[in-house]
Formats: sequence, C-alpha cells, structure tokens
Amino acid sequence: MLSTIFKRRSIRKYLDKPVESDKIKTILRAAMYAPSADNTRPWHFIVVHDRSIIAEFQRIQEWANMLSEAPVLIVVCGDLDKPHDEVYYLEDCAAATQNMLLAAYELQLGTCWLGIVPKSKCAEDLKKLFNLPDRIEPYCGVAVGYPAQTRETRERYNESLIHTNTW
Ligand SMILES: Cc1cc2nc3c(=O)[nH]c(=O)nc-3n(C[C@H](O)[C@H](O)[C@H](O)COP(=O)(O)O)c2cc1C
Repeated sequence: MLSTIFKRRSIRKYLDKPVESDKIKTILRAAMYAPSADNTRPWHFIVVHDRSIIAEFQRIQEWANMLSEAPVLIVVCGDLDKPHDEVYYLEDCAAATQNMLLAAYELQLGTCWLGIVPKSKCAEDLKKLFNLPDRIEPYCGVAVGYPAQTRETRERYNESLIHTNTW
C-alpha cells in the first residue's frame, strides 16, 4: 500500500486494450470504501465506454487529451442531499477518487484525475451531457486504462511544510 502511494503517477498515454469489467468493479468498490462525513457516502459513478460520450466530455473539459486513448472514463458525482452540509460532498468525493487511483494502480492500470470546477460552465455542460438530476453534481472524471508510459516519482517529502503544535 505504501509503495502504491509513493509510485502512482497520472497517466496520459494508454494502450489500445480494454479494461476487464471485474477490475472496474474493484476500482468502484475501493471508491465506496472511502471515508465520508457522517458515513453518508454521497457519491454516484458513471462508467463511460461510449466513444462519442467520452469525446463530448473531452470537448467540455479541455484538459483531457488522454481520453482519446483511454478506454474508460469514470465520472464521479456528488449527491448534494446526502451530507449534513452540502459542501462536504467535495471532500467525500475526493477521498473516493483517491481510493480509485490507488486501487487502479494496484491492478496495473493507469489513471488521470480530471477536475471539474463546481458550478462552472464545464460542470453545467457535463450535467446536461450525463442527464444528471438536479441535486447531483459532477465532481471529477477519472481516465482509466492500461498505461503506455512509465513515469518515475521524485521525492516530494518537504520538511518545511510541517509545523509542530502550532504554525
Ligand atoms: C483536482 C485535480 C484536478 C486535476 N485535473 C487534471 C486535468 O484536468 N487534466 C490532467 O491532465 N490532469 C489533471 N490532474 C492531475 C494532476 O495534474 C496531477 O495529479 C499532478 O500533476 C501531480 O502528478 P501525479 O498525479 O503524477 O502525481 C488533476 C488532479 C487533481 C487532484
């Protein structure tokens, strides 16, 4: 687990190879084991294989070139009615997303987190694309596929960011 955390990188080049459905299920299962405020688990996941819908996502979210190669896109959505305070869905969905990236890495898959700014035009357009109900918000996309690149990690530990007891 620690080596997964230390070795995972965003992957932006993918092999033309389908991802097995049991691996997708494991990734989604990992997402659903994430912590959430008051254990409300305010998430939904849209698994997209349809190339025309993936292309449309890519047109709307402009930083997703790798989706031309990635065989699967998973859109993480937050349910605003579930958490005590609706802003918590952002943290809960982030925890779920990170679990997905780590689980995928352990399954020899590559991923790339594709951010969606809340209440932006991009979020609005994606809401329409996926027919999301009123109180369901798109949180992020995750490109998934077999990696066609190897990326090394560099040391990121930084003592100067750590404060003891107070700032
Ligand atoms: C909230 C968020 C939004 C991101 N959005 C994008 C994106 O739109 N396109 C992209 O290529 N990478 C995106 N990334 C991936 C980051 O660029 C990447 O995590 C960062 O450069 C660190 O590299 P690493 O993931 O390889 O450690 C996003 C990551 C996060 C956490």
